[in-house]
Amino acid sequence: MPPEISAEIESESVILDVADLSVSRSGKIVLKDINLKIKRGEFVGLVGPNGSGKTTLLLTILGILKNQRGTINLYGNKPMSRKLLGKIGWVSQAASNLPRHVKITVQELVRLGTINAENMFLRLSRYRRESVNRAIEMVGLQDLQHTDVSRLSGGQRQRAVIARALASNADFILFDEPLVGVDRDSRNSLLKLLDKLCHDENKTILMVSHDLTAMLQTTHRMIYLEESIKFDGPTEEFPDLASLASLRGIQHVHEHEHSHHDSNHETPPAVHLGKLDENKEEE
Ligand SMILES: Nc1ncnc2c1ncn2[C@@H]1O[C@H](COP(=O)(O)OP(=O)(O)OP(=O)(O)O)[C@@H](O)[C@H]1O
Ligand SMILES: [Mg+2]
Repeated sequence: MPPEISAEIESESVILDVADLSVSRSGKIVLKDINLKIKRGEFVGLVGPNGSGKTTLLLTILGILKNQRGTINLYGNKPMSRKLLGKIGWVSQAASNLPRHVKITVQELVRLGTINAENMFLRLSRYRRESVNRAIEMVGLQDLQHTDVSRLSGGQRQRAVIARALASNADFILFDEPLVGVDRDSRNSLLKLLDKLCHDENKTILMVSHDLTAMLQTTHRMIYLEESIKFDGPTEEFPDLASLASLRGIQHVHEHEHSHHDSNHETPPAVHLGKLDENKEEE
């Protein structure tokens, strides 16, 4: 294939292109020299200790925070561009913390995800109704669709919020810890669902989570961020905790401890990555 054609195909499938990005917050550098390309259909996990800049990176990609240096290109546009309307979805943990006094059913909440500037005053079309039903089915909330959101458990509410993003038909969805408070069974089925969305519907997902185990089982690619990107590669090549420590320049806490892949050991891993493994411990 001539190089100009292959370059063209590549630029077409790259939907996010971050180059030499640096971001400061309150005068302190939080992200430094970030270079990152994500292609259509990829399911990418983003991990790192608390305060390492994961949320900052997502908010900068969305255009909510401004970068001091570097460029961000989303589908060939700058963040917040009008052309991106409806293309990008975002789910944060806080998104499920709806005020208690808001009376809204699961179905109504998910339906909100299908509203945009063009259809705001139109009747719900069959297409939108189908998107809503499908999204509710995907997250397994059919039986609760007419229930008030305030009566759901934390995990169920989180699933409702994810359904809202799915119903929007956004192509690129950014998830910031969507699994917190979701029990293990639902968590696994949600991750499988996200994986399926990438495979079958060519959605692209960038997901922050501290549940390393679950992420390693489902994502295609992992990024380890700590101010800068310390690892970016296929999930099967993601380093174990001991090698991660050397990436971070950290000494082992206990000399005789081995990596957490060892069987029969109940002590915590020698390397502490902030909250990275917290979901595992909950169980
Ligand atoms: N609103 C803010 N104003 C100033 N600094 C902030 C603000 N929010 C976060 N920071 C700082 O930016 C750095 C990165 O925070 P960020 O929220 O991106 O980390 P994170 O990787 O998402 O952490 P966590 O795993 O705890 O969610 C931290 O040092 C934090 O103190
Ligand atoms: Mg965060």
